Amino acid sequence: MKISIIGTGYVGTVSAACFAELGHRVVCVDIDQEKIDLINAGIAPIYEEGLPELLKKHAGKRLNATTDYEFAVRNSEVSFICVATPQDPDGKIDLGIVKAASSSLGNSLKNKKEYHVIVVKSTVVPETTEKVVLPIIEKHSGKHHGDFGIAMNPEFLREGKAVYDFMHPDKIVVGSLDKKAGDIVASLYSGLECEVTRTNPRTAEMIKYTNNAFLATRISFANEIGNICKELGIDTYEVMNAVGRDFRIGQYFLNAGAGFGGSCFPKDVKALIGKASEIGYEPLLLKSVIEINERQPSRMVQILKNKLGKLSGKKIAVLGLAFKNDTDDVRESRSIPVIKELLDNGVKVSAYDPMANENMSRIFNNVQYNNNAADTLHGADACLIMTEWDEFRELDKEFNVMKRKLVIDGRHMLTPPGKDIEYVGLCW
Ligand code: UDX
Repeated sequence: MKISIIGTGYVGTVSAACFAELGHRVVCVDIDQEKIDLINAGIAPIYEEGLPELLKKHAGKRLNATTDYEFAVRNSEVSFICVATPQDPDGKIDLGIVKAASSSLGNSLKNKKEYHVIVVKSTVVPETTEKVVLPIIEKHSGKHHGDFGIAMNPEFLREGKAVYDFMHPDKIVVGSLDKKAGDIVASLYSGLECEVTRTNPRTAEMIKYTNNAFLATRISFANEIGNICKELGIDTYEVMNAVGRDFRIGQYFLNAGAGFGGSCFPKDVKALIGKASEIGYEPLLLKSVIEINERQPSRMVQILKNKLGKLSGKKIAVLGLAFKNDTDDVRESRSIPVIKELLDNGVKVSAYDPMANENMSRIFNNVQYNNNAADTLHGADACLIMTEWDEFRELDKEFNVMKRKLVIDGRHMLTPPGKDIEYVGLCW
């Protein structure tokens, strides 16, 4: 089929490339001409494993990009809204970009006679598709639902592994108000061996939030248990290794440490808290998931203070700036509150990340950024490991250049640690 994708972030660009790989003709739409030019040149506008190969294969053939909504809607049968849904200052979801995209799509639909399906793929709180997107499309197109179709099709893509996750889904969820629109959206995924769960839009929206909120809850649970274990001299990884053997629990997402970051978990849990509060329910558990997560970074700095006393004037090495390994993304990275607290305490911060130095330098320009661990550690009074990069697991002799070989590990990287370093695990 012919598909248009509104928004060329990691969800939009990956979805466009993968739909092209599945045999569809795809046109991407964005207001950012630079991204449009990159995609048309077959160059990935973001870092995603496997994306460059797909763009090079399909750009200019099955996959094109434009800033022209009218052209995109006229030349497609289905339009996916894949724009950002940031959080506003009090944590509630900001639907401004979704609303703008819906208005533009509605205006473009006005002059189109053929049936067209609008699909919300952006992560939106329950009721958004029906109560926000649908009315805007009707208002701007002058049509009624039925003359066009509407559906909600959430994504479950991990950043850095998004292409793999799109092509190997463990679930595909399609929420629609009518069967016709739902059937069309479900058919787009027929090239994938995965059952399609059919439901209504608000249930599809809730499945997405529940999926992320549950994963985030597991992490905060692991951190709570880890913090208790730490006080008792127990290694929480040993505990979770055994607990994860329970077939009802499983081994994944029980890694205690500096906590979760990224553009999804913090934002989505807060958005769900906001929605629950809006409808008069007090989400105690979800609030505690955020509170535990926000305390983990300061627990790292507290250990440092307990070990070094006054921090002012000290040189501290921070290894890892991205919110997780294999990405350059620093959004909500646990390194941000740590670096802020160190700088506020008069510390000279020396940092290194295999991919994220440049992105973090846009947040902190008063940090020394290095190109490898050894340079970062040179003369340091202590080292904090903040991101689970594989290369940090091999560190050993690099610590010899430190003034004091004190290593505080926030990601269970050095297990076991080298004999002659003063090692402290955050939760183990
Ligand atoms: C997540 C969901 O996994 C994905 O399905 C959803 O579509 C988007 O949000 P992502 O944010 O890319 O994906 O990263 P993920 O790999 O899930 O890790 C999120 C954060 O949790 C990272 O900061 C990671 O360091 C942390 N984490 C993960 C832990 O602290 N402990 C764990 O056991 C696992």
